[in-house]
Amino acid sequence: MSITLHIHATRETANKKVAREIAELIRAKPHAVLGLATGSTPIGVYQELVRLHHQEGLSFRQVCTFNLDEYQGIDLSHPESYWNFMHRHLFDHIDIPAANIHIPGTRVPSLELADYCKHYEELITVHGGIDYQILGIGRTGHIGFNEPGSPPDCRTRRILLDQLTREDAAPAFGDLDHVPTHAITMGCGTIMEARHIALLAFGTAKAAIVRKALRGPVSSQVSASYLQNHEHTSFHLDHESASLL
Ligand code: F6R
Repeated sequence: MSITLHIHATRETANKKVAREIAELIRAKPHAVLGLATGSTPIGVYQELVRLHHQEGLSFRQVCTFNLDEYQGIDLSHPESYWNFMHRHLFDHIDIPAANIHIPGTRVPSLELADYCKHYEELITVHGGIDYQILGIGRTGHIGFNEPGSPPDCRTRRILLDQLTREDAAPAFGDLDHVPTHAITMGCGTIMEARHIALLAFGTAKAAIVRKALRGPVSSQVSASYLQNHEHTSFHLDHESASLL
């Protein structure tokens, strides 16, 4: 098993390639199950999917989606909530029914967490499992919000965000004090069950962690390194993020 590496001339080529794979999947399997990521990286893929919907009739009417993660302790309507992000960049512009969208809540009470996370996993299973999972990578090596120390078989749960992850999010929240301390994230084990995985990473800031994920040992210190053991994972990089390979 090894990760298939695509080094693209531009981010646009990477975005188009991933969007085209998703479109082909949906055309072959209209009730496909997509695993979705947020953050700056997948925005171009979502723009391309919206274009395919408007210009090429790609329909999401039977598609079902599961987002990787969500911050805890902010309102759903907060501009940085992942619920808001997904509607702004994708769901408001395509024909997916609201009932087919799954994103962890932002204010899950501590007492309900265990059942809530178990139910999220069960929903994925009931829908037949994730066919195609989009991932970004954090500078801590996280996929979803599986920060260093996350074991390979971990499942959906609440997690304490790494200081580096919070610092990277600080500009979007105004300052570090406003960045949530916790999130709910799908686990590494959950992600590894997806049938196909596409990880996108762009820019020099990701070069060092991309190198560790691809070329380093498989280690709980870099959750993305677990992908070395997945059967159908592709990394889509630009020249900057691939510059240390
Ligand atoms: C977001 C997520 C995170 C991000 C990662 C990269 O749903 O799961 O793993 O993909 O933090 O974020 P960006 O793309 O903003 O660099």
